[in-house]
Amino acid sequence: MELVAQSTGEFWRSRRLRQRPALRRLVQEVRLDRRGLIKPLFVRPGVGIRQPISSLPGQFHLSPDQAADQALRLAELGVGAVLLFGLPATKDPLGGSGLDAKGPVPEAVRLIRRRSPQTVVITDVCLCEYTDHGHCGLLDGDGRIDNDRTLKQLAKMAEVHAEAGAEIVAPSDMMDGRVLAIRRHLDQSGLTDTAIMSYAAKHASAFYGPFREAAQSTPAFGDRRSYQLDPANGKEAMREILADQQEGADLIIIKPALSALDLIAEARRLTLLPIAAYQVSGEAAMIEAAAERGWLDRKDAILESLTAMRRAGADLIITYFADEVARWLEGR
Ligand code: PBG
Repeated sequence: MELVAQSTGEFWRSRRLRQRPALRRLVQEVRLDRRGLIKPLFVRPGVGIRQPISSLPGQFHLSPDQAADQALRLAELGVGAVLLFGLPATKDPLGGSGLDAKGPVPEAVRLIRRRSPQTVVITDVCLCEYTDHGHCGLLDGDGRIDNDRTLKQLAKMAEVHAEAGAEIVAPSDMMDGRVLAIRRHLDQSGLTDTAIMSYAAKHASAFYGPFREAAQSTPAFGDRRSYQLDPANGKEAMREILADQQEGADLIIIKPALSALDLIAEARRLTLLPIAAYQVSGEAAMIEAAAERGWLDRKDAILESLTAMRRAGADLIITYFADEVARWLEGR
């Protein structure tokens, strides 16, 4: 194939369009938009509580009322949505507290819907925060994950969240068939308008460390490799995305983000569903730690990493930096 000349000059000068900020802005291919940012919030029982999370600098354990305040502030900043994770008062082998309609997450959902009606509320649907063993699924007698029994539990949790007012439920457990199980259950419960944002391609990653401390969800034994994807597997990630799409997912998530930019780009060609990239806790921690040592510029590093996710093809970005980024983007 013959290359088509791009310029009549002697050689191509890419630098022409880089001369000054206005020109660079004009030809910028992707842009960050605060309306496409999603902020994770950690909700715990109580009133008036706002406890810093040591493993996630700048993030807090919030009681439902504080989560509602925060959601309102985020909406005012133009952040697109919040994603709620729960820290229940009690844990048991079945994750029963996750089905409690008076638990911190449903409570926060109701308060947010009331106090900040414009906020889009997404809830994490997974058992790991609610089980005493910390696994994302129920266990059988031999300590193995009981996939199909877990599905019923997840479907009920999704129903509780949807009944409280969540517009989108986000199953992060990686059990097989959960999108279909949740979709059927929601539909049978008359909750046909509740959307499902599935963590379709979720790797068994070392980068979730700070989150597990924040969510108190570290598995008591073993690891998550029997349900989360091997980071080596890209084709399998695409199969997961197709399966979730067929089962009725309305949006899909890929995580971690920065170590899976290739998968975001591939998914962009594979599906027409909105794609969310999750900049996970470990990705945020790397930036925080390096910035603290003065090894990189924190703001530039955050903006560059999020921009790379957009370039790869992500429509939405879940990030702990959502509020800060929204402030930086104000007036742009
Ligand atoms: C729960 C869940 C995890 C994350 C999101 N949902 C942890 C895990 O799978 O162990 C990680 C998020 C992050 O690291 O920021 N299933």
